[in-house]
Amino acid sequence: MQQVDVLVIGAGAAGLMCAAQAGYRGRNVVVVDMGKKPGRKILISGGGRCNFTNEHASPHNYLCNNPHFVKSCLSRYTQHDFIDLVERHGLAYHHKTLGQLFCDNSAQDIVDILMTECQWSGVHVQLRSEVISVEKAQQGYVVTTSTQTYACESLVVASGGLTMPKLGATPIGYKIAEQFGLKVLPTMAALVPFTLHQHDKDRFDGLSGISVECEVSSECNTQFRENILFTHRGLSGPAILQISSFWRAGQAVTINLLPDLSVEQWLAQQRQDNPQKSLKNALATILPKRFVEMLHETNAIADCNVNQLSHSQINELGNYLHRWQIKPNGTEGYRTAEVTLGGVDTDELSSKTFEAKQSPGLYFIGEVTDVTGWLGGYNFQYAWSCGWACGQAC
Ligand code: FDA
Repeated sequence: MQQVDVLVIGAGAAGLMCAAQAGYRGRNVVVVDMGKKPGRKILISGGGRCNFTNEHASPHNYLCNNPHFVKSCLSRYTQHDFIDLVERHGLAYHHKTLGQLFCDNSAQDIVDILMTECQWSGVHVQLRSEVISVEKAQQGYVVTTSTQTYACESLVVASGGLTMPKLGATPIGYKIAEQFGLKVLPTMAALVPFTLHQHDKDRFDGLSGISVECEVSSECNTQFRENILFTHRGLSGPAILQISSFWRAGQAVTINLLPDLSVEQWLAQQRQDNPQKSLKNALATILPKRFVEMLHETNAIADCNVNQLSHSQINELGNYLHRWQIKPNGTEGYRTAEVTLGGVDTDELSSKTFEAKQSPGLYFIGEVTDVTGWLGGYNFQYAWSCGWACGQAC
């Protein structure tokens, strides 16, 4: 049996950040991961360029049963601290829209930075080691993996959520939490495309690939202004992924297809400027043509010229295009989701150290906890912030 001060389960974003910090404090740290490579989710994130943080990250960008929980770690290790770290390592990066920061070259650069930090702080990362069991010992914990048994004073569970099972997602973190009496809140795929009922699939057949900038809102009054994308399977695009975290089965999502203009005012102007133009051709100047054809073919818009529209038809059309409603059939689930909603209840954890209140020496960080960020680099920022905070204490 190998004796260590700190054993970290999971060589992902949160686990590696935590391990390096604990290593710098002089702790003898081992990270175990069942994968062949460290940071496998980092490698595929942001289309291979890793959206590693967001300039505007704040507690407002996170879903958690206790909205105050993330405040402490996000303020102690901010996006600017992580930007400083990557700049010290010479990372080439760029700003995209909405405060999102991406690597210029490859997400591998972020993994390399974390592994360098682990190397400098004397952390050993043991790959191809699946955690089989965890037991409480007189002092600390005993962890059995497929390759070795460890006795540790502090056990940090950074084993991630359930998304992308092909990349080694396992429920081990939730099982350990339950084993030690911690409450685990129900989990659900989030930041995930919607699937559609057959009648909508038939309606939208032929729209695949069309992207429209919209304002999408859910029944809980949250809204996002980004693109929606029609796909072969359903609806995707950043605005849809964002709203999926707030959507619950059976609910509708409301899409403002033309957030920058009032359809009523625009039609009044059209009636003056182009009275003989068909409604279909007029709409095709402000919406994708194939989308307008679909509206026409499904009788959602009148087959007439703009000057033939009655006052009530204009109001109806405005209402329809500004509050277009879709009732998804479901989501694509953990197979394609970016994150897992729910997880280890944060009421069970210290928001300063991430230690379980009832199990000294046991810590939970990262996606395994009930904290889910918006799309846009917020999830990695939480991983860095909680990993850093835990690394000061474990
Ligand atoms: P993470 O899942 O990264 O790491 C957990 C580790 O634990 C894994 O390496 C796993 O192998 C290991 N493990 C699990 N069970 C084990 C066991 N039994 N034994 C041993 N090891 C075990 N976020 C963002 O901010 N910007 C972005 O651009 C993206 N892009 C993105 C794209 C895609 C396709 C996905 C799926 C996700 C994203 N995300 C993202 C989300 C982001 O990847 C996620 O929030 C973090 O990776 C979570 O980090 P963790 O360290 O908590 O878990």
